[in-house]
Amino acid sequence: MSLKEQLLGRVAEAPAHSGNKVTVVGVGQVGMACAFSILTQNVASEVALVDVVADKLKGEMLDLQHGSVFMRNARVLASTDYAVSANSRLCIVTAGARQKDGESRLDLVQRNTDIFKGIIPQLVKHSPDCILLIVSNPVDVMTYVAWKLSGFPKHRVIGSGTNLDSSRFRVLMSQRLNVAPSSVHGWIIGEHGDSSVPVWSGVNVAGVRLRELNPSLGAAEDKENWAEVHKQVVQSAYEVIRLKGYTSWAIGLSVATLTEAVLRNGGQVHAVSTVVQGYHGIDKEVFLSLPCVLSESGVSHIVKQPLTDEETAQLKRSADIMHEVQTRLKM
Ligand SMILES: NC(=O)c1ccc[n+]([C@@H]2O[C@H](COP(=O)([O-])OP(=O)(O)OC[C@H]3O[C@@H](n4cnc5c(N)ncnc54)[C@H](O)[C@@H]3O)[C@@H](O)[C@H]2O)c1
Repeated sequence: MSLKEQLLGRVAEAPAHSGNKVTVVGVGQVGMACAFSILTQNVASEVALVDVVADKLKGEMLDLQHGSVFMRNARVLASTDYAVSANSRLCIVTAGARQKDGESRLDLVQRNTDIFKGIIPQLVKHSPDCILLIVSNPVDVMTYVAWKLSGFPKHRVIGSGTNLDSSRFRVLMSQRLNVAPSSVHGWIIGEHGDSSVPVWSGVNVAGVRLRELNPSLGAAEDKENWAEVHKQVVQSAYEVIRLKGYTSWAIGLSVATLTEAVLRNGGQVHAVSTVVQGYHGIDKEVFLSLPCVLSESGVSHIVKQPLTDEETAQLKRSADIMHEVQTRLKM
């Protein structure tokens, strides 16, 4: 009898899978920040990592496994073979090229589309019922690409979208107001990137709409120049990339929050990228961020936010930009 058999009397076979397994494809700066946030916040009890660089992958897996004692014993697996991702409830894709200093997100599109052709069909094969959460940039177009390559219904393919931009927006406003970011409510919708739309009409603290106090909030004639806050949001990634080479912690935390909403069937509302055709007069089949209710089936509802004419026009411009990029894609 082995030591294990002497120690443990068998009662029943433990299930092979936890039921809340998450796969992260791409173990670069963003993928690891996502995995680390998910593990340390106990969002999933099983995390599989996939990448093409075997040594880096094994190193990251071992490093996380060595910390298991300090987490709630989550299982961490890793392989270059997508079989490791089997039976995931949620698959997060962070693989691909990232922006270089001065490069826009849209510059990455064809390179990352070609990479996705090798990733998405593999994830679908091993986890046919999963939710796909796309993070690779340009995230709105890459979510469209993942949707087309997966053949999944639209509610099961989500882009991390402007959940991060909305967080940056709230943090920057909170610094001006000296109120906690979680108590300043505001939404950035549309493209995660240069054409994102701040919904100034809805910004509020404790239900007090700032536009009622300052009717020119966010407009050019505003003496306090609150529009600068949105400019800073747009510049945020460029600034962090210039300073440290990449962005990681905030996107990791944002993705962990989205993952939790899906796995726990929470019904939380987040600005994520989804098919927006039919909303706010958009007639094109594009992904952009709107406030969405997240559940275990992915996006269950889109919140019909009242927007001003100017906000609607900006959103439509984002849709046109996305559509134009999509028409040039070689899928
Ligand atoms: N949506 C957002 O808000 C947001 C925020 C930050 C970064 N990003 C994007 O996330 C992506 C990753 O950024 P990063 O800083 O982690 O980059 P990185 O270069 O550090 O990591 C990318 C990883 O992808 C892996 N990879 C490349 N091709 C692959 C393939 N075919 N299969 C599996 N893995 C593959 C690489 O080996 C590498 O480990 C970029 O596209 C970046 O622009 C998105």
